Amino acid sequence: MKVIVIGNGKGGTGKSTISMNLLVALQSMNKKVYAIDADAPQHTLTQYIQNRNFNKNLSKIEYKSMQYDENIDQILHIFDKEYDFVIIDLSCHYDKKTQHIHSKADLLITPITDSLIDTNVLQSTNSLEQFVPGAYAELVWQVKKNKINDKSGSLKWLLLPNRINIRVTNNQKKVIQKLKELSKYMGCIILPGIKDRVLFRELFESGKTIFDLKNNSISTLAAKQEIRNIISYCI
Ligand SMILES: Nc1ncnc2c1ncn2[C@@H]1O[C@H](COP(=O)(O)OP(=O)(O)O)[C@@H](O)[C@H]1O
Ligand SMILES: [Mg+2]
Repeated sequence: MKVIVIGNGKGGTGKSTISMNLLVALQSMNKKVYAIDADAPQHTLTQYIQNRNFNKNLSKIEYKSMQYDENIDQILHIFDKEYDFVIIDLSCHYDKKTQHIHSKADLLITPITDSLIDTNVLQSTNSLEQFVPGAYAELVWQVKKNKINDKSGSLKWLLLPNRINIRVTNNQKKVIQKLKELSKYMGCIILPGIKDRVLFRELFESGKTIFDLKNNSISTLAAKQEIRNIISYCI
């Protein structure tokens, strides 16, 4: 069983959207998946899954909507090894509980939009001569260190540029530069990323993902390919 945490210390970067698309993509590859929505009380992923499970023509997603006072160890313990992948959609809090959930991950995927406001939680300086980790990078670093010290495995960290503008802008170049700095110091991998596509916004209500779309338009195929790119790093 592989535990994938979708986390970032910043809200609105696409954590729930990516979680849902990964769940359905993996399921379409005959993998047994389970979702944990650890973003109480917002519970966006829960709502997305409920919208999906209501639709009889779509595959069901099994899930747990975690309340703030619940313990992740007990939840994961219940179905140890029964699933191929457990995907945990996290909140952007910086508390001990959030840090502890990170420690359960084999793989951490951090979606980041192409905005310097987002990268600030990863790399918090303008100077390229000196690397200063942002608050979220500090949290991940701590988790990595703890995992090595208590021999509970390693944490692979993937940075996922999301909502990328189709046109390359100077801002985008600066963001990529920041991610490269972070990757150099913290050994994370920068994924090819996901474009900003209306498709990702409009499917929520129906509970569908791009993997439920039957049309072969260029944008649908390209979006599927973008999600599959992430999966090639998860398997
Ligand atoms: N690749 C994308 N293209 C277009 N819109 C996106 C994309 N990814 C996410 N969104 C939209 O961005 C907003 C924030 O996404 P969400 O998944 O709720 O982020 P988070 O879980 O990090 O708060 C939502 O309105 C969502 O529909
Ligand atoms: Mg969310």
